[in-house]
Amino acid sequence: MTATYPYSELQAKLGFGQALPWTEHWSAAEDFLLLIADHCLTQKPASILECSSGLSTLVLARCCQLNGRGQVLSLENGEEYARATRENLAAFGLASHARVLHAPLSHQQVDDREFQWYRPDESLPATIDMLVVDGPPGFLQPCSRYPALPLLRSRLADGCHVFLDDAARDDEKEIARRWLGENPALNHQYLDFRRGCSVFVLKGKSA
Ligand SMILES: C[S@@+](CC[C@H](N)C(=O)[O-])C[C@H]1O[C@@H](n2cnc3c(N)ncnc32)[C@H](O)[C@@H]1O
Repeated sequence: MTATYPYSELQAKLGFGQALPWTEHWSAAEDFLLLIADHCLTQKPASILECSSGLSTLVLARCCQLNGRGQVLSLENGEEYARATRENLAAFGLASHARVLHAPLSHQQVDDREFQWYRPDESLPATIDMLVVDGPPGFLQPCSRYPALPLLRSRLADGCHVFLDDAARDDEKEIARRWLGENPALNHQYLDFRRGCSVFVLKGKSA
């Protein structure tokens, strides 16, 4: 049975002229996408980094188009998903607002632990104003998305907002706990969304 299209509000809000491409269990939920769209439209970040690509990339790119400023860089470990997102960006006339980087997962050392995470790339922006963390997939390893903050921390601008999807899961709760313990300069708000959402705001780089 085909699920009912769940993105009508988002499509209308952002003025997409056609239905959005989505996958039932993999695309971010509409509440999360509306939240990051609202943030992007009101704060107009110049530099947006996203861990994982897909519908969220289209949404962020569309917001940058509407804002008349901002660029999205999306890290995607799956080559086929990177290709599909690029094709969708082109089909929606958004290719100039977002770049999808095929970033295979590789061993990354974080303190004394090893993770599979996106291979760092010299083309990562020096300054990130908005970070959206919806990958790598949780089934790969415990706390799959934990490396995002320790590995990107030095690039996050003061006031950077970090959006962690799927925050209702035990792993993401543990990630939030660790990030907050390791970064006193983070403010945190948990939103009781369909899959849970944690929003972190970096206040003061030196703390
Ligand atoms: C939660 S998904 C990312 C969703 C994306 N942020 C969006 O809103 O569409 C995390 C990762 O799962 C992988 N993925 C996406 N669709 C998939 C599928 N149908 N089956 C298996 N893996 C998938 C991709 O590598 C993607 O980066």
